[in-house]
Amino acid sequence: MDTDHRIIAVLALRNAHRVVIFTGAGVSAESGIPTFRDAGGFWTRFPPEKFATWDGLLRTALTHPRLLAEFVLNVIEPVAQAHFNAAHAAISQIGRHLPTTVVTQNIDGLHQAAGSADVLEIHGSLLEVIDVGSGDIVHRFQREELTAMATSLRRYVAGEQSLLSLLMQMRRQYPLDWRGRHRPNLVLFGDALGEPAWSRACTAVEDCDVLISVGTSGAVYPAALLPARATNQGATVISIDPQPVAGCWLQGAAGEVLPALVLDAFGH
Ligand code: OAD
Repeated sequence: MDTDHRIIAVLALRNAHRVVIFTGAGVSAESGIPTFRDAGGFWTRFPPEKFATWDGLLRTALTHPRLLAEFVLNVIEPVAQAHFNAAHAAISQIGRHLPTTVVTQNIDGLHQAAGSADVLEIHGSLLEVIDVGSGDIVHRFQREELTAMATSLRRYVAGEQSLLSLLMQMRRQYPLDWRGRHRPNLVLFGDALGEPAWSRACTAVEDCDVLISVGTSGAVYPAALLPARATNQGATVISIDPQPVAGCWLQGAAGEVLPALVLDAFGH
């Protein structure tokens, strides 16, 4: 069965004209960034009702600032230290063979780091600050800047510095307009998806003949609609995940399955 799926995937890629690669947290797992819903994932350690909405975050900030700092540290630090892995590299390689749009739910910037050119970040980017009114990006972080923030947060979480001192450092390190005009470019639960990324993602899916879904549980909408939309308009949908997925499923870690698929499809 798995061999059949592998053959379907290789032939589909060889004959493709336009490809969409739809990625979730699993594609970055081998870069050391935890997923959300696997054992030890973010939402198993930090309940979404407290941490996945702006209201929840504000309430947590007021009532449990150290817990909020711990959460932010756990979000920032792995991304600050991450390097792209073999899966991101293989995806970028597909883009050198075929017109490819990467639609990612991830906020870590690793597809761009691996060289993918057309990347739509439908849940935003941890590396960006936006103007709330216009949606314009007003600042883009280097990973070293995130590392500096993580160091400050870690010292506060460990009780080595006060909240006041942390806030003063964050004010310097995180160039927000603290009157509320700027905020991290992150889509939380209940927010509309990033635009024009989402509209462009829908168009790319309408135009593709192959969609490869990598490392996503398909639990969060509307992003999770994309593979079904691709199927409905006649595209071949291939899923890569260690956990079972209906349809053409290549079982395994993205960092192993994707390079092998690229090798089989394109010979290098
Ligand atoms: P999940 O944590 O829900 O799912 C991660 C998926 O990756 C699971 O299906 C795992 O089996 C799979 N996986 C784990 N390791 C892998 C590996 N090495 N290679 C390939 N797959 C692997 O993460 P997402 O589906 O990305 O949104 O979550 C979607 C959204 O939920 C996130 O963008 C975020 C979250 O709440 C918002 O916060 C708006």
